[in-house]
Amino acid sequence: MATIIDGKALAATTRERAAAEVTKLAAQGIACGLAVILVGDDQGSATYVRAKLRDCEQCGIPSKDYKLPAETSQEELMELVGQLNADNEVAGILVQMPLPKHLDEEAVVAAIDPKKDVDGFHPENLGKLVRGLPGLRPCTPAGIMEMFDAYDIDPAGKNAVIVGRSSIVGKPMSLMLLAKNATISVAHSHTDPRELARICQSADILVAACGIPKMIKGPWIKPGATVIDVGMDRDENGKLCGDVDFASAELVAGAITPVPGGVGPMTRAMLMSNVVLAAKAQHGLL
Ligand code: GUN
Repeated sequence: MATIIDGKALAATTRERAAAEVTKLAAQGIACGLAVILVGDDQGSATYVRAKLRDCEQCGIPSKDYKLPAETSQEELMELVGQLNADNEVAGILVQMPLPKHLDEEAVVAAIDPKKDVDGFHPENLGKLVRGLPGLRPCTPAGIMEMFDAYDIDPAGKNAVIVGRSSIVGKPMSLMLLAKNATISVAHSHTDPRELARICQSADILVAACGIPKMIKGPWIKPGATVIDVGMDRDENGKLCGDVDFASAELVAGAITPVPGGVGPMTRAMLMSNVVLAAKAQHGLL
């Protein structure tokens, strides 16, 4: 049976560490504020934002919560981002995605001061990741790298397969694993479906981030492999599940993340540590 990677416990430790840093910085007169912007009334996004604000409270991070109507114009949103860029109390800015269709997400991400880009989505931060320079990293893959560390899983020399190529998870994940000397394959919606099982079977580290419920089953997994499930899907009964069929996968994997309780909590916790990192970097403390 596989080791279950306890994202919840690791997230709690990560938050405690962030909270201790926040206290230390506050004693030096440095504010670690996080501004969170939610446009429109998507219920899923509202739930995520509430959870992030709760995390802030728990870590002693002062948050500014902006709930804007769905009709907000590009100009209004850009104006708010500009104000927050100039606000010394705000160390980090998060604009919850997706934005309503009439808004230009790329322009909004690019307008955020890269030093305050705690999502790590800004082209400057992604460019730094490509070049192997320090910078703010996207929370989900950063959290997964913390899991490898915590469970003594060294990616060096391993075959890592990432299923999914989003800018939020798949692409940065592949670069972070590459930086740790893994050999990378990225499978995606155009990968020959007849090849997909074989590609997954070659993985010592398999990261599933494709958004298809339970797509990856036990026989696709190399015995002893580390399986990381980024999925937040619903199964045929409406129950929360991942991209991996956990029941069959845990019989084969060496280590595996559950859904819920795996990648999700760590992603949120990494946002807190990114706020601390951003505040420190802004004050020349790194
Ligand atoms: N929407 C889904 N995931 C994320 C995330 O990590 N950050 C932001 N800003 N929006 C999201």
